[in-house]
Amino acid sequence: MLLVSEPILGDEEKAALAAVVDDGWITMGDRVRRLEQAFAEAHGQPDAVAVSSCTAGLHLVLAAHGLGPGDEVLVPAMTFVATANSVLYVGATPVFVDIEGLDLPLMSLSDAAAKRTGRTRAVILVHYAGFLPDRDRWRAFARAHGLILIEDAAHAAGLPGAGGIGDAAVFSFYGNKNMTTAEGGMVTARDPAALERVRHLRAHGMTSGMQQRLTGHANGYDVTTLGFNYRMDEFRAAIGLVQLARLPGWNARRQALAERYRRTLERDCPGVVLPFPEPRPSANHIMPVLLPAEVDRSRVMRDLRIRGIQTSVHYAPVHRFTLYRERSPGVSLPLTEEFARRTLSLPLHPRMEDRDVDMVTLALAQALVQTSAQIPAQIPVVHCEETPS
Ligand SMILES: Cc1ncc(COP(=O)(O)O)c(C=O)c1O
Repeated sequence: MLLVSEPILGDEEKAALAAVVDDGWITMGDRVRRLEQAFAEAHGQPDAVAVSSCTAGLHLVLAAHGLGPGDEVLVPAMTFVATANSVLYVGATPVFVDIEGLDLPLMSLSDAAAKRTGRTRAVILVHYAGFLPDRDRWRAFARAHGLILIEDAAHAAGLPGAGGIGDAAVFSFYGNKNMTTAEGGMVTARDPAALERVRHLRAHGMTSGMQQRLTGHANGYDVTTLGFNYRMDEFRAAIGLVQLARLPGWNARRQALAERYRRTLERDCPGVVLPFPEPRPSANHIMPVLLPAEVDRSRVMRDLRIRGIQTSVHYAPVHRFTLYRERSPGVSLPLTEEFARRTLSLPLHPRMEDRDVDMVTLALAQALVQTSAQIPAQIPVVHCEETPS
């Protein structure tokens, strides 16, 4: 099966894990600190804080900025549920914002402006599929209304500019991300004091860590605030250091594969809409396409699965989940809903060969012809040429 995403783990990761076993120091040690510093440097940031997941990092960033009950946070619904959940963790209210358009599934600035109220305190931008939003426009919006701008950069590890838009940014190292530590994440922040609050909240609100005490850098500890256990361990950091070094090469390969997809899909599947037609920086985390409106997506997915190709949907819109429907009934986001109904994510990961892209394009073209053959005659049939495999 050609999978939508696949982690790349090998001998270097094995050796790095073995070295942690040999050293015997297994959590919050030198490797975690080195990963923080290397990740910060790779993203043009002065420092970073490693956490147990991107979700945990989003929670900490909101807590560190004092978000709480009564506050509203503008979030896209075209995202993974964790973006909105993190707002609920601090007792604030997520307010869902539509996307810019079917070809630009990033949070709409005009809809955000329309949904802003006197209670709005923050905005969480999601770098959907790895694409960066317009930095200057969002910063101007946030500045004009005194809002905290947060980047959910789960899809954008290694992308120059990610982390440089908002007051804080959070990256994910989950197993399907551009680099992985199995579970894990990283927080960056513009204000060093805010980043230190994140660091403090990450480990129970304690004023010193075990390593500092053992090395004589601290005698004891106090607990000055209600914190959490969102620490990263040395095993994950060891893998992360290896993965971070390989990330630029992998992201370049993703870019080449995405460009090849664009060429072959435009040529062979003209009924398929390719989001992000304008050049825009991207980590190419996923490869979403928009199927023609009348096509039965589940049939296409089944067809591709039979041919050994996994596909996925990013995402079911968050405001339509029962939890959120019950909390805020009647939310309507027409563009998000249409995008969610028609989108299909094709396999995209650096293990893929060029011929995999050609094979997926051919299979999609054939699946579309087959499903189109079964829809009523008045609907135009999508013409898809076959590519040599
Ligand atoms: C956009 C987005 N935000 C947040 C998360 C949560 O990341 P994690 O699994 O590291 O908590 C994900 C993970 O898939 C994501 O895609």
